[in-house]
Amino acid sequence: MSTNSIDSLLHESRRFPPTAEFTAGAIAKPELYDEAKADRVGFWADQARELLHWHKPFTQTLDWSSAPFAQWFADGELNVAYNCLDRHVEAGNGDRVAIHWEGEPGDSRSITYAELTAEVKRAANVLAGLGIRQGDRVAVYMPVVPEAVVAMLAIARLGAVHSVVFGGFSSESLRSRIDDASAKLVITADGGWRKGKVFPLKAAVDGALANGTSTVEHVLVVKRGENEVEWTEGRDLWWHDEVGKAEPEHEAQGFEAENPLFILYTSGTTGKPKGILHSSGGYLTQVASTHRNVFDLHPETDVYWCTADVGWITGHSYVVYGPLANGATQVMYEGTPDTPHPGRWWELIQKYKVSIFYTAPTAIRSFMKLGREIPDAFDLSSIRVLGSVGEPINPEAWIWYRDVIGAGTAPIVDTWWQTETGGIMISALPGITTLKPGSAQVPIPGVKIDILGEDGTRVDPPQGGLLVVSEPWPAMLRGIWGDPERFKETYWSRFSKGDVWKYFAGDGAHVDSDGDIVLLGRVDDVMNVSGHRLSTQEIESALVSHPIVAEAAVVGAADEATGQAVVAFVILRSDQEKAQTVEEASTLLRAHVAQQIGAIARPRQVFVVAELPKTRSGKIMRRLLQDVAEGRELGDTTTLTDSSVMQIITDKLK
Ligand code: WTA
Repeated sequence: MSTNSIDSLLHESRRFPPTAEFTAGAIAKPELYDEAKADRVGFWADQARELLHWHKPFTQTLDWSSAPFAQWFADGELNVAYNCLDRHVEAGNGDRVAIHWEGEPGDSRSITYAELTAEVKRAANVLAGLGIRQGDRVAVYMPVVPEAVVAMLAIARLGAVHSVVFGGFSSESLRSRIDDASAKLVITADGGWRKGKVFPLKAAVDGALANGTSTVEHVLVVKRGENEVEWTEGRDLWWHDEVGKAEPEHEAQGFEAENPLFILYTSGTTGKPKGILHSSGGYLTQVASTHRNVFDLHPETDVYWCTADVGWITGHSYVVYGPLANGATQVMYEGTPDTPHPGRWWELIQKYKVSIFYTAPTAIRSFMKLGREIPDAFDLSSIRVLGSVGEPINPEAWIWYRDVIGAGTAPIVDTWWQTETGGIMISALPGITTLKPGSAQVPIPGVKIDILGEDGTRVDPPQGGLLVVSEPWPAMLRGIWGDPERFKETYWSRFSKGDVWKYFAGDGAHVDSDGDIVLLGRVDDVMNVSGHRLSTQEIESALVSHPIVAEAAVVGAADEATGQAVVAFVILRSDQEKAQTVEEASTLLRAHVAQQIGAIARPRQVFVVAELPKTRSGKIMRRLLQDVAEGRELGDTTTLTDSSVMQIITDKLK
């Protein structure tokens, strides 16, 4: 619980009520809260009917009889892709731009809803021709290019299940995800642009499939990087060849609301990533509803931009499904914010007149460090709503974001949610909520949140506790792929009693005297590095998989830029201690973690130590290592088997 302390809030006591003008034009009306309060489940049924097209209307809203396995809108049928595409064209909005895409090298494409629909229909025919049917799993390993969206929607259109793997993950990580979901097909690209260079993706797919035992039958390859690729005849196919010659017509069939839509792997407290499973009707309802109300979306006039990669949940819910279900026009950008110059993002906001902008605190803090001269050089006057996600936003960054990017007027919504929750759960609503920097504020209408003490009773403000969701919500995860027991154990075992089910989120929080929720960071062994979730144990496993390592412990240390940073402590095998210097070992191991998991997991520091602090029962005391990594006075060491260990570690590091 180190990323956002209550103390830092004390520096900022200003409150920002909405202007009368904003409120008058706002999409969200205060009655939403009243309606949801009067009939929570009925509120979601209304949202589902109002925002989506149903091939077959539902009559049941929530079935919680097999809790914690929920069913929403179970007897209804819909097609997720039809909801994101065809119906907008049929409503006469085919000429509206769906995606203004910008490649890192400066190439760009604007794609209308009619064009996107046509492309998805052809791609769906290609996938069907490759044998993809309802329920089959397809892995997507792509850069941020329009074809990534086309691929996801084509899979959804067939009632199949996508598993998007972030393009920065290693071949190893990709392999384990492909295997866990028994994917039949992989959709990838030759490469994508990042920091002025092409990073190869197809090569990683080849590596992931190299042992020949995989369930994958075909690899469909989008040409993007124009880099050399190896080719396996019979298995590999070029996307442009196949989509180019595919039939243009494809009728979207309705699938039951609980038909699985996607699996997305995320880090938990154990070494193995969990395949979070989401289904169709409830998920699409909540992401469409929150995208509209939380961002005050006026689809006819707004230009929306969420900077997330499609490989993360934010990209799924707030680049693909929410915005497209709502018929929004959005910007998608392939590359890094500082390529070829540090004003690239602001230049894009100016170019496309972006009015709603959604990004992560880590990005805001890094721009803050570079100085306001950079954004000040661009015309950002189109901005009217700003969003933040991924980690607590510290009040300093909040104020900078509002002043420098939002001209001192744009409301900021600090949105708390998770891969598991599928959609936004806690956020202000612009035009209604009086904003308070440093707090995600209030549950959205229709969501019930409580803060509990260790014993499961509600804690009174301003005490801190553990955040739980006390009632089922439409976009909730439906399980962990292939592991129902782990699902129950991880999320539902801690606070549920009898038939009262409470979802334990893994976050600490406190409610302030106004009733606003302040998030305090993870309470488990999950780190949050630049808004990305990483597991300490997964990185420890990667470290001990290297032959020179005997033991490893990883902690998330507070870091000004990235929120937390990965810091590792390793004991080398005795025959290795003299074989290399500490510097060599550290460099080697940092590279090894990046190669095993992906560059986002590369430790900021690897310390070679002679021993690790352990309790008498043999548990590593990460808390003490965190003190060291953050340069603090050591906490209580009395439970250590050997209290001199910490002295030795700190002396050595000095
Ligand atoms: C953290 C990202 C504070 C939290 C959508 C959560 C936040 C984890 C916020 C989920 C926020 C996300 N304020 N903390 N506004 N948003 N988090 O699954 O610890 O990548 O449990 O989903 O990020 O990360 P995930």
